[in-house]
Amino acid sequence: MDDYVLVTRQIFGETIAYLKESFEVVDNQEDKILSADELCRLMGNALGVQTSTNDRIDGPLLDKCPKLKVVSNTAVGYDNIDVAACTERGVMVTNTPGVLDETVADYAMALVLSATRKIPQGERYLRGKKWTKNSLTFPLSRDVFGSTFGFMGFGRIGQAIAKRALSFNGRIIYHCRNRVSTSLEEKYQATFVTKTELLSSADIVVLILPHTDDTHHLIGRDELTIMKKSATLVNMARGGIVDDSALIEALQEGDIYAAGLDVYENEPHLHPGFLGLDNVVLSPHLGSATIHTRQGMAMRAATNLVAALSDGNPPDLVNPECLKMT
Ligand code: 8YV
Repeated sequence: MDDYVLVTRQIFGETIAYLKESFEVVDNQEDKILSADELCRLMGNALGVQTSTNDRIDGPLLDKCPKLKVVSNTAVGYDNIDVAACTERGVMVTNTPGVLDETVADYAMALVLSATRKIPQGERYLRGKKWTKNSLTFPLSRDVFGSTFGFMGFGRIGQAIAKRALSFNGRIIYHCRNRVSTSLEEKYQATFVTKTELLSSADIVVLILPHTDDTHHLIGRDELTIMKKSATLVNMARGGIVDDSALIEALQEGDIYAAGLDVYENEPHLHPGFLGLDNVVLSPHLGSATIHTRQGMAMRAATNLVAALSDGNPPDLVNPECLKMT
């Protein structure tokens, strides 16, 4: 096939149909896990590729795809893509911001509540036929209402979670690279603090920031030691921001109270140390996984792909500098 676009993972039929209005499409509707070699073979002559967070796009792969003009990620995060390598080669990178904020924020609150109120543990207790009496002292958990919520990262999704935290009478503190405007701080009654202040005073620490070289292992042994022993850590952002081995150790030793995790290092290969722990709620990267939102993300990614190849001006261009390279 000469000119085509590639969709690397199974996607909704309506999205494939939309792409087919403009291009030949090579799809993977069987949802096979593509090895690096298979991905390279399929991408070799593609004009554009619609990727998922599982696909690693780097310089050596791009060098084997001479016709490629755009990598459209079906996600807001794009740490699976070497953006600098794309930019150098004049390849556009796009993502899907905005579509998933409220959906991910709902899930973040679900993890905050599940981990802090020990909801899965209660269910295991019941299913394990251990519920033989209504005890006044066991099992117990901790309150979420009235907690101090510390946000590492305070972009759109962080703010959507803060909106929910406020309705739990939460106090909002945050830390991020670029402080948000005074009007946003007022809107969310949010106070900018240092990382150490945040870790030492938050009851609930929520990670909702991009994974970059600068944020890799942002939460390791030292940071977990600074946190309150009564605190819950929730990671809705990316594996790699947390040092998983350090977190497992901290949970084992009771350095923090609980964790709610949607993301991990080396997904989908979970560190086995998590499985033996009772004070962690484990979710397999499902924050954005509602029908409505995943359909929205798929169409948004397809729209970016078509726009990039038609007029070179996709709505969610991550690396506008790449346009100067062509
Ligand atoms: C994933 C996400 O894309 O948008 C992101 O950055 O991490 C998610 O929405 C989705 O879970 C598929 O991997």
